[in-house]
Amino acid sequence: MTACRPSLAVVGATGAIGGVMLQILSQHADVWGEVKLIASPRSAGRKLVVRGEESEVLELTEDVFDDVDVALFLVPDEVSAQWAPIAAAKGTVVIDDSAAFRLDADVPLVVPEINPHAVRIRPRGIVASPNCTTLALIVAVGALHAEFGVRELVVSSYQAVSGAGREGVAALREQLSMVAGTELGTKPGDVRRALGDTEGSPFAAPVALNVVPWAGTEAGDGWSSEELAIREECRKVLDLPGLRVAATCVYVPVVATHSMSVHARFENEIAVDRAHEILATAPGVVLYDSPAAGDFPTPSDVVGTDPTWVGRVRRSLDDPRGLELFVCGDNLRKGAALNVAQIAESVAAEFPQRS
Ligand SMILES: NC(=O)c1ccc[n+]([C@@H]2O[C@H](COP(=O)([O-])OP(=O)(O)OC[C@H]3O[C@@H](n4cnc5c(N)ncnc54)[C@H](OP(=O)(O)O)[C@@H]3O)[C@@H](O)[C@H]2O)c1
Repeated sequence: MTACRPSLAVVGATGAIGGVMLQILSQHADVWGEVKLIASPRSAGRKLVVRGEESEVLELTEDVFDDVDVALFLVPDEVSAQWAPIAAAKGTVVIDDSAAFRLDADVPLVVPEINPHAVRIRPRGIVASPNCTTLALIVAVGALHAEFGVRELVVSSYQAVSGAGREGVAALREQLSMVAGTELGTKPGDVRRALGDTEGSPFAAPVALNVVPWAGTEAGDGWSSEELAIREECRKVLDLPGLRVAATCVYVPVVATHSMSVHARFENEIAVDRAHEILATAPGVVLYDSPAAGDFPTPSDVVGTDPTWVGRVRRSLDDPRGLELFVCGDNLRKGAALNVAQIAESVAAEFPQRS
């Protein structure tokens, strides 16, 4: 009987993350009572299917939060910044997937496998979920940290275009349709010239037949906002304010699932067999690491799955405290919707079962 369960609002139900959230809600159907679907006025009146039933999308207004226990915010930063405090002021617990509150000292940044306790201390009534690149990394690194004590991370990302939302996927599809079957990619600038005006693309360069070493916005001293987000968010989730982190974020022509090559340096010497054991048993991690047999994670195999996949685990040749890893995580699932859903389910458990 759903009436006894906490009620939920999904704000941004029509977006890339919203679509995955509706699938997850359908798979975890016994957690929530009423579920309201909310988006911008552009989408009001659209019908979406959740838990096997059609539901009409409502426009985001203050009134939609009446009688809503928990609201998932899957909207751009500025929409969360404006509306999450409005929902929280009405007593709704907000789980926010945007960057608006991640570094706010009064908002916990939660990864249930790593710092589940943090969800309970939320003075603003808001809980934040990390960036998708941080999430692809931190479940594996956090498990290793518990035993070896992480001190430094050097990370290069291979990020999927859906990290830039629906527009990112649309841009890749359009660009691929223009270059497929051509001889492009053999002369300087030929892809860029063939694509012509890529206005509307969220990428700073062609992403078809290319890689783009820039994600997010200018964050000072040559760093991108995505690179600094990995640094600050890893520090906050692991509660390691002095953790040394250097990230280079790169978009690649992959639809969904971020990959990363990681050099992690620890306080203690690494026994690589023990690192394998930890990764093989850590919650939310799959160790897939027999490279000679072709067993290592790739985004096209990992997409649509929940865990963080880890392969190519080896001790650094020149540093007994260093470990090299390759990780893949679906940015739309654990990197966004699934982590938000896990946080929300832990909050749902706080609500008394009403009858
Ligand atoms: N994509 C990822 O890999 C990823 C990972 C982690 C976190 N995030 C974060 O999750 C959030 C959503 O990302 P996304 O990729 O799903 O974006 P998206 O595909 O562009 O979807 C944006 C959603 O926000 C809604 N929206 C936009 N403006 C609104 C407004 N003024 N009022 C109400 N709703 C509004 C849109 O509704 P309409 O359809 O009506 O426009 C749509 O449902 C962003 O903060 C993003 O940074 C994304």
